[in-house]
Amino acid sequence: MTSSQAPLLSVQHLSFSFSKEKHILKDISFSIENGTFTLITGPNGAGKSILLRCLKGILAPSGGNILLSGEDVTKHPKKRLQSIGLVFQDADTQIVGQTVEKDIRFGMENIGMDVVEQEQHLDDVLTLMGLHEQRDQRPRTLSGGEKRKLSIAGVLVMDPKLLILDEPFANLDYRSAVSVLKTLLRLQKEGHTIVIVSHEVDKILAHADQVLLLEAGLIVQQGTKESILSHLEEHDIYIPSVKNVEDLTWLKH
Ligand SMILES: Nc1ncnc2c1ncn2[C@@H]1O[C@H](COP(=O)(O)OP(=O)(O)OP(=O)(O)O)[C@@H](O)[C@H]1O
Ligand SMILES: [Mg+2]
Repeated sequence: MTSSQAPLLSVQHLSFSFSKEKHILKDISFSIENGTFTLITGPNGAGKSILLRCLKGILAPSGGNILLSGEDVTKHPKKRLQSIGLVFQDADTQIVGQTVEKDIRFGMENIGMDVVEQEQHLDDVLTLMGLHEQRDQRPRTLSGGEKRKLSIAGVLVMDPKLLILDEPFANLDYRSAVSVLKTLLRLQKEGHTIVIVSHEVDKILAHADQVLLLEAGLIVQQGTKESILSHLEEHDIYIPSVKNVEDLTWLKH
C-alpha cells in the first residue's frame, strides 16, 4: 500500500498492561481516515485515556502496531509526538507557562517555529478560543473552562496532523461547549483529522464519521453513527429518542 492510500492512523492489535495481572487494552484495532471525525466513548475506566497515551507515545504498548500514513511508528514515539496533538483530560497536567501567552508559546518555541509565524499563530488561537482578555493571566488562576480552552489552544497552535482531545467538553458551560464543538468542526472542514473521547454521545453523535465503543479494554462496537445507534442502549449509553441521528447534536439546526 502506498502512503497516499493508507489511513492517517492505523492501530493493529494494540494491547497495554501495567502488570501481568492488569491488562488495560486488549487487541484494539481501528483506522482513522484523513479529514474524518472519530468519537471514542465507553464507561469510566474502560481504557480510553490509556489508549490515547499509547497513541501519542507517552505509554509504550505491550503489543501491536501503530502506523502513521502507512509507516510503522510503533517503535518511534518521537514521530508520533510531532504528528499527534493530544489535549489531556486533566487540563492542569498540560499547562506549563507562567501566563496564558507564555503557555501557548511554549510548544511553538519547543519545535523551533519561526518568530513571525509564532505571533500570527498566537493571535489566531487566542481569538479562536476567546482568550485574548486572559492573555497575561496566570494559568492557575483561570476557571476550569478557561483552563480547558487554554489546553486546547496550546495543542492547536502546533497545527498537528491528527488532533486528539480527551473529554474536551468537561467543565464547559453550554456556550463554551458549543464554541469548542464549532471550532473542531471548522478545523475538520479545513482538513484536520479529529478524534475525541467523550461521554456526551447524545450531543455530538451527528458529527461523527466513525464511532468506537470501548469497554474493559475491548472495542465492543465500531462503525458509522447510523450503524452504532441501535446498539448504544444495550451498552447503557443514554440517547434520547430521535427520528434522525442528525438530531443528536448540541448545535441548533
Ligand atoms: N498508573 C496506573 N496504574 C494502574 N492502573 C491504572 C493506572 N492508570 C490508569 N489505570 C487504570 O486503567 C484503567 C483505564 O483507565 P483510563 O484512564 O484509560 O480510563 P478511561 O476510559 O479514560 O475512563 P474515564 O472515562 O473515567 O476517563 C482504569 O481501571 C484505571 O484505574
Ligand atoms: Mg479518561
